Amino acid sequence: APLKTFVNEAFQNFTNSAVKANMQEALRLVESELGKEYPLILGGERVYAAEKIVSTNPANPAQKIGVHQEAELAHVEQAVAAGEKAFQTWSRVPVQQRVQLLLDVAKLVQQRKNEFCAWLTYEVGKNWAEADADVAECIDFLEFYAREALKLDRATTPIQFPGEKNTLRYIPLGVGAVIPPWNFPLAIMAGMTMAAVVSGNTVVLKPSPDAGTIASRFFALLEEAGMPEGVVNLCQGTGDRVGAALVANAKIRFIAFTGSKKVGLIVHETAAKTQPGQRFIKRTILEMGGKDAILVDADADIDAAVEGVVASAFGFSGQKCSACSRAVVDAHIYDVFCDRLVERVEKIKVGDPVENFAMGPVVNKIAFDRVLNAIETGKMEGRLLTGGEAFANETGGYYVKPTVFADIAPNARIAQEEIFGPVLAVIKSQNFDEALDIVNGTEYGLTGAIYSMSRERLDRAAQEFHVGNLYLNRKCTGAMVGAHPFGGFNMSGTDSKAGGGDYLLLFTQAKSIAEKQ
Ligand code: SER
Repeated sequence: APLKTFVNEAFQNFTNSAVKANMQEALRLVESELGKEYPLILGGERVYAAEKIVSTNPANPAQKIGVHQEAELAHVEQAVAAGEKAFQTWSRVPVQQRVQLLLDVAKLVQQRKNEFCAWLTYEVGKNWAEADADVAECIDFLEFYAREALKLDRATTPIQFPGEKNTLRYIPLGVGAVIPPWNFPLAIMAGMTMAAVVSGNTVVLKPSPDAGTIASRFFALLEEAGMPEGVVNLCQGTGDRVGAALVANAKIRFIAFTGSKKVGLIVHETAAKTQPGQRFIKRTILEMGGKDAILVDADADIDAAVEGVVASAFGFSGQKCSACSRAVVDAHIYDVFCDRLVERVEKIKVGDPVENFAMGPVVNKIAFDRVLNAIETGKMEGRLLTGGEAFANETGGYYVKPTVFADIAPNARIAQEEIFGPVLAVIKSQNFDEALDIVNGTEYGLTGAIYSMSRERLDRAAQEFHVGNLYLNRKCTGAMVGAHPFGGFNMSGTDSKAGGGDYLLLFTQAKSIAEKQ
């Protein structure tokens, strides 16, 4: 039977008491499973290493979430070899069978939705709605790429040459490395991995050390759904050791990476260096950072703009590449906007994501120190309106108060460097042209939004606001699979549109076949 038309997975309403009770039960269940040890899984084989990576709860660092293996170089070789071996068969499996794997996994994730939400809450500090959005996006990616793979399989050449039968096949590349981030550790991890897999590739998956448990839990579903051994190989480890070895490996055909600009550029440069024995040009699919702006025009609905800025800047403590870290506000409404912004930000309740506070911690000690350092820079560069310090708590969680600086110059460090935390720079613009210059005045180009009542200015923004994902009169986070193909320009990455109709092309190569009739 043909697949039903794709629809985005609905978000849960946790104000409903039954929905809330389900989530609380899932949190209790997951709590009873915290701290277990998980192996590497290479060609189906469980492998333990001497060195361990301990993943902890950012809201309560003494609490262990999972213990993982730091893969050794021999394990990296073993993972790549297992992927190469599995590629021989997986690349020839009919597309319907690969599609079925994604659909089966989607169903399993859906059945255990709150369990995955709870893992996200414990391992990276997402509150319930943020966790739910991550799980929903994971399901969406699986369902969407399943349909896209079927579409790609029906591809034809644009023209039939007279006297020939012309066909076009999108064939897989080989074994690739998938290196996902910790901030969407289910959705982006599963999305990149399964886009590669449904296209007929095999994968060595190296999750973020901050989110290894979610990856291990997802991997268990792949096995439960009957994924053949070696199609995905779980090779946990740190970036500068395991990630670097994978990217440099002569047999790794492609690298799908989401993370910082710094690491993304290292991946790009390393992949560009041809290794002895390498028989192809490696492909990189890179999603990096942002310094995303919301432009608030003189005639904007100020309350709507404040809501949009707050949601985009402080949702998941600002730890999204799509997060708003700059609000560029017209001088005519600047003071009113700042007043209402502060009033709204000061209502944000900070606390334990397990108890579903609006804003939780940042992901780890390094992030905590980095964000607090950026705040000190901000104090020298502008006027602190609210926040500006850590949020004291009994468990030693890495909480930072939602922080807003006003009167920031467009070229100030906190207006140029990605902070990846709950810190917003408000910049005053004298007019619309200047506002456009300011929003475009960074090396990034990922997301952006504009609040305006003027059709003409919205149209100009559509033309001149140079970002991969532009939003008019709404927040700049929360891209929906299929509706908002996601990815950015310039130093934000290769504009590989996750959740878009072109995404699977990045994991394939086209073969044209002409037969004389
Ligand atoms: N896709 C996410 C968003 O739009 C960021 O990765 O917020």
